[in-house]
Amino acid sequence: MTILVTGGAGFIGSHLTRHLLALGRGHRVVVVDALTYAGNLENLEGLEGRADYRFVRADIAERPAMERVFAEERPEGVVHLAAESHVDRSSLDSGPFVRTHVLGTQVLLDVARGAGVSRFLQVSTDEVYGSLGPTGSFTEESPLAPSSPYSASKAAADLLALSYWETFRLPVLVTRSSNNYGPRQFPEKLIPLMIVNALEGRPLPVYGDGRNVRDWIHVEDHSRAILEVLERGRPGEVYNVGASSERANIEIVRFLLRVLDRDESSIQFVKDRPGHDRRYAIDAGKLRRELGWEPVRRFEEALRDTVRWYLENRGWWEGVRSGDYLLYYQRQYGER
Ligand code: NAD
Ligand code: TYD
Repeated sequence: MTILVTGGAGFIGSHLTRHLLALGRGHRVVVVDALTYAGNLENLEGLEGRADYRFVRADIAERPAMERVFAEERPEGVVHLAAESHVDRSSLDSGPFVRTHVLGTQVLLDVARGAGVSRFLQVSTDEVYGSLGPTGSFTEESPLAPSSPYSASKAAADLLALSYWETFRLPVLVTRSSNNYGPRQFPEKLIPLMIVNALEGRPLPVYGDGRNVRDWIHVEDHSRAILEVLERGRPGEVYNVGASSERANIEIVRFLLRVLDRDESSIQFVKDRPGHDRRYAIDAGKLRRELGWEPVRRFEEALRDTVRWYLENRGWWEGVRSGDYLLYYQRQYGER
């Protein structure tokens, strides 16, 4: 089938696109991406020229552009990943988050409905559930309690998407994944930022006491989960995605320094993120039970592979740090 992947030039979208095309099941993939600071055609290198792939540069909030691509391609499935994805940026300026997540998702849903698509997968995040105390984990029934403009606008998009199932019977599915890691993640997120800073001999800025916990999943395990839900999930349902790999931030930073054979003197505890969620942990039992999905990548080993990728692909991360990145870095972390 023809699958339209929004945000396909980003981190997860590019892994998903490559995964879909590598399956050999005859899928055609149409990537729609506005190429914001986080979108990068290098992430899709080698695919151009294939008959089963097309890249369209377009903003999902622009209805005429979306109508055009749906009319031209007649996709049967949509996997919607296009987003502003970084929490810290959402506290500096929430405008693009609301525009892309709320308006952009609404435009896509409307156009997808008009075109009669048979599957619409909204890719979301466990951050819509807010923060956990020291025990327990998020299930699909956990209340929505987002803390940041990023997660609040993602929650709005999830609810809009689900409303199109209730109101119009557009076959919408929602996945909510925990924190991803792996190759090609933009170096504003914890893991790539720490790797890149360590390689450049810069300070490693750890927010607060470093004891905030995230539950990590490799981007390839997430991509496989997205595909399972797209093909076999029940419309109108939410599926949590996670690999039961909870780690405190400081443990990860220390692990990365050990892998890179650096001492810990570069760790710098800095002012905490405003509204910083303390802990995330995902219960992915529904996805395992209903669709038989299991993660296959083990955290420490896959994190070593990720470090190796950044060591071997210096050109990629030097290239993505454009003028916008440097401005953002200065605003977020001060002059360094
Ligand atoms: P990313 O920032 O690497 O990529 C986002 C992509 O969306 C970029 O290519 C960007 O150019 C594109 N984009 C942004 N605004 C757009 C617009 N208006 N129109 C068209 N394209 C636009 O993000 P990512 O980490 O790959 O995340 C992808 C999705 O997965 C997001 O929806 C995010 O909320 C979700 N998610 C991410 C994580 C994670 O840990 N990274 C975890 C759970 C869920
Ligand atoms: P991040 O990668 O931004 O993902 P999210 O906020 O979506 O979970 O951050 C992961 C954790 O790392 C989070 O607890 C904040 C922390 N963090 C730092 O301590 N320092 C940093 O420079 C960054 C970017 C994140």
